[in-house]
Amino acid sequence: MKISVIGCGFLGAVYAAGMASLGHDVVGIDIDEQKLERLKAGHSPFFEPGLDELLLEAQNRGSLRFSSDFADTASSTMHFLCVGTPQLDGSLAADVSYVDAAVRSLVPYLEASDVIVGKSTVPVGTAARLSPLVLDAGAELIWNPEFLREGHAVKDTLHPDRLIYGVRDETDAAAAIAALDEAYAPMLDEGTVRMIMNYQTAELVKNSANSFLATKISFINAMAELCDAAGADVTELAEALGLDERIGRKFLNAGLGFGGGCLPKDIRALQAQAEELGVDSAVNFLNDIDHINQSQRSRLVELTRRICGPLEGMRLVVLGAAFKPDSDDVRDSPALDVAQQLQDAGADVVVCDPHATGNAKLRFPDLAYTPELAEAVAGADALLLLTEWKQFRQLDPYQLSSQVARTVMIDGRNVLDPTKWRNAGWTFGALGRP
Ligand code: UDX
Repeated sequence: MKISVIGCGFLGAVYAAGMASLGHDVVGIDIDEQKLERLKAGHSPFFEPGLDELLLEAQNRGSLRFSSDFADTASSTMHFLCVGTPQLDGSLAADVSYVDAAVRSLVPYLEASDVIVGKSTVPVGTAARLSPLVLDAGAELIWNPEFLREGHAVKDTLHPDRLIYGVRDETDAAAAIAALDEAYAPMLDEGTVRMIMNYQTAELVKNSANSFLATKISFINAMAELCDAAGADVTELAEALGLDERIGRKFLNAGLGFGGGCLPKDIRALQAQAEELGVDSAVNFLNDIDHINQSQRSRLVELTRRICGPLEGMRLVVLGAAFKPDSDDVRDSPALDVAQQLQDAGADVVVCDPHATGNAKLRFPDLAYTPELAEAVAGADALLLLTEWKQFRQLDPYQLSSQVARTVMIDGRNVLDPTKWRNAGWTFGALGRP
């Protein structure tokens, strides 16, 4: 099948490579020439495990190309919309102007029975609003939200949990549904559940899924605060709660909380959405979820102050800059937020991250960075593990002891074994653990 992917950011680049690996003939469209140059050379513009291999393979086979010219979409019969919908400045709502612009740019090249597939996370009503424009060109619009996680994007794209098709009318859109089934044939053959629903429901699935995940994380972080006050251990609490199948263990990791380009934006977009629909009180609790999440960052700074004493002149090493491991994405990174707060409080902060220091420098230019662990920890007064990269989870307290000035470890992600660190002579602190 000939496919175009509009927008080659995180979602689009992975999607273009993924669809090409399924045997389709794909053209990726973006306006950013620098990004296109990297992609054409077979390099991902961001760090995502497995993506470079997929890009190179597809381009060597001749099944993937990139272009900045919308005219190159003309020969495709299916067009995936993968542009961003960032939070609007000064508002909780998402900015859908890139989605609108992408559809308007596609329309002149559409042919009868083409299908536009919306992957971007959009507010309810977006697909219904754009559909007439697409129908006028003889094409059909399906909203098919994407659930891929950074760091696992290749697997999540090729082996999704579910496929959601939002349509205007199941009978009228039958040919478009069949075409999308054909594009996704390998996934459907694996038994992936496919659900057909109206546009509004499909649009809500994405925002509500991310809001639920954010709620789970903030719930366990609220419990962590209770645990601190009560002398309980939130990691054991989470294990015990997770054994109840109705609750489940995933997304109950207490610590510094969530960041990134999706969860924070999506809980705010859902609030803006509810307000627009006149039911803002229905999701008022999301405001608390956001608040709990933000307050984890100041709680971590307080914990550091409690353990280390006055922060002025203290040499602190922040392990992690990315908002999560296996990613170089630093959007709304809790680790960088804490690093900046510590530096503002007078500490001498060095941030160490294996892949994200380049992006971090652009957002927080006043912080000092190094990708080299040995260089970072030399002479440190305290180490703060704030993004749980594998190399940080595997740190050996005995080996590190001789490199630091003071043996203090603050585990902001609850991934280290406190007994092991304390037995090695370290002062150990964490959120929600005695
Ligand atoms: C999220 C959704 O998971 C994905 O389905 C959607 O398509 C995009 O948004 P992503 O932003 O890549 O994916 O990150 P995710 O793995 O959900 O983690 C989000 C944040 O929550 C990270 O900062 C992570 O550190 C934090 N987190 C996650 C916790 O603090 N505790 C947990 O138990 C899990």
